[in-house]
Amino acid sequence: MVVLGIESTAHTASVGIVGEDAEILSVAGHMYRPPRGGIHPREAANHHVEVLPDLVRQALERAHLRSGEIEAVAFSQGPGLGPCLRAGATVARMLALAWNRPLVPVNHCVAHVEIARALSGLEDPMLLYASGGNTQVIAYARGRYRVLGETLDIGIGNFLDKLWIELGGSFPGGPEIEKEANRGSELHPLPYSVHGMDVAFSGILTATLALRAKGIERPDLAYSVEVTAYAMLTEITERALAHRHRDEVVLGGGVACNERLRTMVRTMTEGRGGTMFAPPCSLCVDNGAMIAWTGLLAHRAGVSIPVEASAVQPRQRTDLVETPWRAR
Ligand code: ATP
Ligand code: FE2
Repeated sequence: MVVLGIESTAHTASVGIVGEDAEILSVAGHMYRPPRGGIHPREAANHHVEVLPDLVRQALERAHLRSGEIEAVAFSQGPGLGPCLRAGATVARMLALAWNRPLVPVNHCVAHVEIARALSGLEDPMLLYASGGNTQVIAYARGRYRVLGETLDIGIGNFLDKLWIELGGSFPGGPEIEKEANRGSELHPLPYSVHGMDVAFSGILTATLALRAKGIERPDLAYSVEVTAYAMLTEITERALAHRHRDEVVLGGGVACNERLRTMVRTMTEGRGGTMFAPPCSLCVDNGAMIAWTGLLAHRAGVSIPVEASAVQPRQRTDLVETPWRAR
């Protein structure tokens, strides 16, 4: 089976084509970068509408496939920014109708989980999903992915992006903070906010800006922010492993590109005698391949949706979606 997937929840428009066993046949994507400040949903959606038709063409070309060889069309139904989701959903509906193929709705968070799980080869790992809008520790149980712990305020990536803009940089901030942190060495105390298996970041944001106002340089600030925030994520992941008697972790979401986070979670997991896996960065950030792969799993389990019932769901939570392909 070959499935085409469309991703458009936030800043990235991407089309992926995937075959059985998560074989990635092609990915074609383009990221909207705001001229200044954060993402404006309407402008990002306009960007997606402009680039998606050509990305579909590129994805087919790169996979050496004709449209008739695509067996289903999957799209990100949510969560995400309404206008951006609608842009991708509209293109997906159009393709499904034009090609006379089933339309398969995919939850964006579950897709981050599934692509990481497929590449890891691990059957039932714990997942640390750290992205722009989401920060969750997830495990599968009885037909759904369950959120064991999460952010109580903003997603870690949005926190890093916002902080970097406040420090004079541009979007996206996560990769730039990583470069800056590698030049820092002095750890300044910042609010370490772990509540059971939940975390919060807004206190670190305020405290970092206060340190900046006192003249602390950006490399040391970035270093302190990374060490503090990633230690929080490592701690809640370890607590989840201990409670659920697990020893395998996979990372997903754009912040999982970060080498310091990877190293900290790996050190913790291996220290417990377990295994940690993180996909290549291109498959941690938003991409159409993860939507296509999850669409393939869902379609194989009998999931599809009529066009007239395919409204996007900007607030669709990870734990609201049934995952019949994992039922056991
Ligand atoms: P969500 O999955 O919650 O909808 P998203 O779709 O906005 O979030 P992703 O593409 O999964 O996000 O991740 C984007 C985020 O990843 C951005 O906030 C970006 O700053 C962050 N990011 C990317 N690379 C790195 C890195 N090397 N270190 C830290 N953060 C990073
Ligand atoms: Fe994402």
